[in-house]
Parts: sequence; structure tokens; C-alpha cells
Amino acid sequence: MAVRSRGTKLLQTFLPRCLAPPPGRRHLSSPAWSSQLASLPPRDLYRLSVTDPDQFWGSAAAERLRWVEPFQRVRDCELSSGRISWFLGGKLNVSVNCLDVHVEKHPDRVALIWERDEPGTEVKVSYRQLLEMTCRLANTLKSHGIHKGDRVAIYMPVSPLAVAAMLACARIGAVHTVVFAGFSSEALAGRIQDAQCKAVVTCNQSVRGGRLIDLKATVDAAVKSCPSVQHVFVSQRTDNPTVMDRPRDVQLEEAMSPQSSICPPETLDSEDLLFLLYTSGSTGQPKGIVHTQAGYLLYTALTHQFVFDYREGDVFGCVADIGWITGHSYVVYGPLCNGATTVLFESTPVYPDPGRYWETVQRLGITQFYGAPTALRLLLKYDESWVKKYDRSSLRTLGSVGEPINHEAWHWFHSVVGEGRCPLVDTWWQTETGGICIAPHPADEGAPIIPAMAMRPFFGIQPVLMSEEGEPVQGGDVGGALCISQAWPGMARTIYRDHQRFVDAYFSAYPGYYFTGDGAYRSAEGYYQITGRMDDVINVSGHRLGTAEIEDALDEHPSVPETAVIGVPHHIKGEVPFAFVVLKEEQQEEPDAILTELRNLVSTKIAKYAVPQHFLVVKRLPKTRSGKIMRRILRKVATEMTDDLGDISTLDDPSVVKEIVHAYEQYRKQPHQRKEE
Ligand code: WT7
Repeated sequence: MAVRSRGTKLLQTFLPRCLAPPPGRRHLSSPAWSSQLASLPPRDLYRLSVTDPDQFWGSAAAERLRWVEPFQRVRDCELSSGRISWFLGGKLNVSVNCLDVHVEKHPDRVALIWERDEPGTEVKVSYRQLLEMTCRLANTLKSHGIHKGDRVAIYMPVSPLAVAAMLACARIGAVHTVVFAGFSSEALAGRIQDAQCKAVVTCNQSVRGGRLIDLKATVDAAVKSCPSVQHVFVSQRTDNPTVMDRPRDVQLEEAMSPQSSICPPETLDSEDLLFLLYTSGSTGQPKGIVHTQAGYLLYTALTHQFVFDYREGDVFGCVADIGWITGHSYVVYGPLCNGATTVLFESTPVYPDPGRYWETVQRLGITQFYGAPTALRLLLKYDESWVKKYDRSSLRTLGSVGEPINHEAWHWFHSVVGEGRCPLVDTWWQTETGGICIAPHPADEGAPIIPAMAMRPFFGIQPVLMSEEGEPVQGGDVGGALCISQAWPGMARTIYRDHQRFVDAYFSAYPGYYFTGDGAYRSAEGYYQITGRMDDVINVSGHRLGTAEIEDALDEHPSVPETAVIGVPHHIKGEVPFAFVVLKEEQQEEPDAILTELRNLVSTKIAKYAVPQHFLVVKRLPKTRSGKIMRRILRKVATEMTDDLGDISTLDDPSVVKEIVHAYEQYRKQPHQRKEE
């Protein structure tokens, strides 16, 4: 492949002389831009990124990525129609940018440290080894008929082979869709069907917290209803045998070993699909969020460097699963594009004991630790000695993601884990945003960080708060619906095969703006704090769930004419689903058996974590005259705030409120309902 220089011409066009480095300004740490932009302090970079996005992103893309063909135009974006294109005409390969460019410079640098479930058995994989593994896997896929544009489902826990499978797809131009290995066979099947996947990559079993889970059996059940699947590649994570249905099933390691360790990278357009990732919305089926090549990669690499103050030699520890966007952006693509050493954490925070994270920090010398508030809330219940007995002096930056971090968890993380000396960055973003959008910027030395606040927009991000009337709210100390007014390279491009749904979900509430679904507050200083979802999406242990999805699963029960699910606060999980269930007349006497069946339904249709923690059987639901369920009232009942029900005059029959409050009071009296909390 002819690899041309990195768009030097374009750089000359884009970089005026005024950007020459002012004398004496601090250079940002590696991997620095070689251009004049590197010498600008973050504040000036931010200003440039929003006033002149073409120049900012154009020079970043030209210098930070290796192109096969330079791009002709930086962007072509129109938010009202959801048309988003970056680096038009550019050709590149993401796996080359994550592997080959580093193998040329430092082949033996560790790319991955696989922190296996069994403590003390970590496996290190160098950049050279990861490139070879990726190429063998890519050649295996190709020799089984998988080519550019085909979709491949990856149903595996985090492991070097899972990362190699993602990069192998990127190498040959196939589109991966990683499905979190905790999802049920039906949820997996739904995603495979929607994406029309040609292959599935999985393991015989997964190992988590010392427990074995039969992943292959789940895949077998799923692919029964997926005629598009021609092959299931099975990696051997444990020694236990698996039933193989050949020739459909292919033992992955066996198939890889005779393959060449060289695989010429496919040349891809900036806007070819890189991956799909399914996520929940406020209605119906999960949506296949589409991310493309160059813009996504550039955005994850820049955020990884600036938000976490990543420097060469760091051991970056993001403990997320690759089944979520956090794993895609900050376990795999961002760190590898920057040539970092990235940790793959297979275990749980409490296995074999609540010191696991910090023992891992000590053993691997982790410099950045990025995790979810739910795990912190769980860990802070244990004695501090579980943290303190391990040496955490390697830590430099702490990060939090996925849900609002409460003050108690923030302070525990900052003072106990970080000994008060590591900046703690609360990072706000979404599957749709591709990378971090609001975070404190620790690379901006000396800038304050206010506890439990996401703080400042990243380069290129212009947050806008909208009033109920749909007007931008100006000034400080104000709240509103969080929107973003300009496109950025990492944002989603569409919903797979349903562009209209993309436009409806994100660009129609406030025409011309991207609507996040979250509410936010802006302080007098201009700092942002996320206040939570404004739609029917809930967040259980940092996992996003649509209440409508749970309702759809419950409504399949023949004895259940109607349900309404809401989220209620939970001290560790953040939120848990609470289901209000209407049973058919004849079932109302003996609901327990039905409730067990309902739990099973949700678990088999979605995942175990989606099973409502609370079920309340009611005779009817509160509805408006037009038949819409008033969830606001259900939320008030379930959070015991019935003194302040608000306006209930629009209810079809206001007496329903009394009925539900009474049912709830009875429910609270049952001792077994309280103990799980
Ligand atoms: C939703 C996105 C971000 C990657 C993992 C989750 C909530 C995310 C924060 C934060 C408050 C947060 C939002 C957002 N969220 N980060 N720092 N503070 N809320 O990605 O599954 O797409 O969920 O998670 O509600 O919309 P996701």
C-alpha cells in the first residue's frame, strides 16, 4: 500500500502564520502535534476549535492520522437533516493507524495488558504481536467469505482476541458490532438480525468473578433465528469442550494458526462504516448507532490524550467492557491510536475481594484509572484498608463515566484512592457522541476542578441549554435541555438502515441542534453539570436501558394487558427499574407465579440487569384523557413524594392516584421487598 505523507499540502493551506508557537509556552506532552497548534494552551485551542473548526480539525486530522489519500474537504455537515461528513475524500485504514504506525516505531512496546479474571495471571501483548494476531484473524475472516462492508457480531468479554477481532474487521473493511456478553440470546439475535451479520465471533465460555458462563450456548440459541449467519468463530477461553456444529462453527485459534501474519489493509473512505453499536432509546427496539472511520478515530485519540493527560509510557486503565462505547473508545481505539499501553480488565471490582482494582493498579503500574460510579459506590462501603494496603503511587489521573457521580463517591475516589493528588475527571458523553464531550481538561494545568461536575466542553463542542419553549438559555446559573450546536468529528452518522429515526431522535426536538436527551445546569462560571435524562431512558449500573424495551418484554405475557416501567434511585446501581403491572381480572388473586414469569421474560428477552427490582400490581395505570400514561405520577409514588403530585387535573380519572398510592403502601409493608435494596 502506498502510504503518502500526512497531507502536508493541506496543512500549509490551513495553518496561517499567526499560529507559530509563541515563545516560552508550554508544549503539551506526547503524543504532541508536530505543528504549531501543539504549542497553544488548551484555552486558545478551544477557541480556535469552535471559531474555525475547519482549521482546527483539518490540521489535527492531517497530522495525527496516516492517510492513504489526503482528504479534500474538512467537513460537510447540516444538523437539521442529520447530514454529517468529515474529511471528505480521504482514504485510510484505522487498523494501520492503531497498529502498523506504532510497530514501525516501537514494535515491542506493550499494546495490551489483559488483566484476566484470575488475579496475577495477566498477559502482555506487544504492538507487533497484536498486529500479527489481527492479521491472522483478518485472513481467517477473509478465507471464510467475509469482505469489505459485511457485518460481524462480536459476542465476547474483553480479551486480546476480542480486540484483534475488532481491528481485523477494521483491517478488511468489515463492520463490527460488539454485543455485550451479558445480553441474552434473544437480544443478541435481534442485533444480529438488524445488522444482517454474516458471522459471529465468540468464546466457548467466559470467566467472571470465578464463574463460568456458557457463551457459545447463548450464541447457538441466538443464531437459530439468524439465517444471515454463515459462520460462528469460537475462541477457547477455558479448557472445557464445546459442541461444535461444523462447518458452520470454526475453532478460531486452529483456523488462525496456518494463516499469514500479514494482511494488506483495505483502503477505506473516511465515511465508510467502522462499527455499529446498539443502544437503547426511549422507544422500541435498540438503535444501531453508526460510527465511521477517520472522524471517530481522531476524536477518540484527541480526547484520550487531553482529557486524561495521557503521556508516552503510561499504562492506561479503563475498566469498561468492550460491549459498551467506553470500551470501544477508551480501551481500544483512542489508546491504540495514540500508541498507548491499554489494560483489558476481565474481572469484577470485588473478585476475589474488594481490593481487586487497587491490587491491579499496583501490579500493573496503572497511571490512569477510568471507571463507573456504580463500582465506586459499591467499594466505598468496605473498609478503606482494601484500598490503602496497595501502592497507588503510579496513578496520575482518575476518571468517572456513564452516570452522574454523587459527591460521596467523588470524594472517596479523589481522597482515598487518589490521596488527593490526582485530578478526577467526570466525563460526560454518550454512545452517539463517540467520545468525551464535557470534562474538566486536566491537561489545562492549574484549571480548577469542581467535585462532581463535568465542567467544560471539549474541543469543537458547543453546548447549548434549551428552555421549555425551545429557545437557547443564556447566561449562568441556569438549566435546560442539553444540546450541541455544531457537528464534531466523533459524532454518530446515522442509525443503521433508519436515517429518519436518527433525525427524529436527535435533530427534530430543537431543529438545527443535536439533542442529547439529558438535562444540564450551567454555573455562573460557565461550567456544566449533568442533571440526568429527560426521556424514558434509565441508567442501571451505568448501563443504559429504555423503559419501553422492558415494557415490551413484560407485555408479551398473556396475563398482562399493560405495564409501565420507570427508574427509581438506588444507592449502588444509580437507578433500578420499577414495574407497575396490570394483570387480567382472573389473575389478580395469585400474582406471585406471574411475577416470577415476568422476571424470566425480561431476563431472556433483554438481560439479567434489566429485570425490574420492584413489581407493583395495580388495577389500572394513571392516564390522560387521550390515553397517555402519566409516568410523572408513577415516579412520585415510587419515590414516596406523593405530597407533591403536581397537576393531576388532566387525568382521565384522578381517583386512580389513591388506588396506586394504597397499593404501594401495602407493597412497602412486605418485609421481603425491602431487603434487596
Ligand atoms: C448516557 C449515555 C458515556 C459512555 C457510557 C455511557 C449518562 C454518561 C455521564 C456523566 C452524568 C452521564 C447520560 C448519557 N452519562 N456519562 N459523566 N454524568 N451522566 O454511554 O450508554 O450511551 O449512555 O449516560 O445520561 O446520556 P451510554
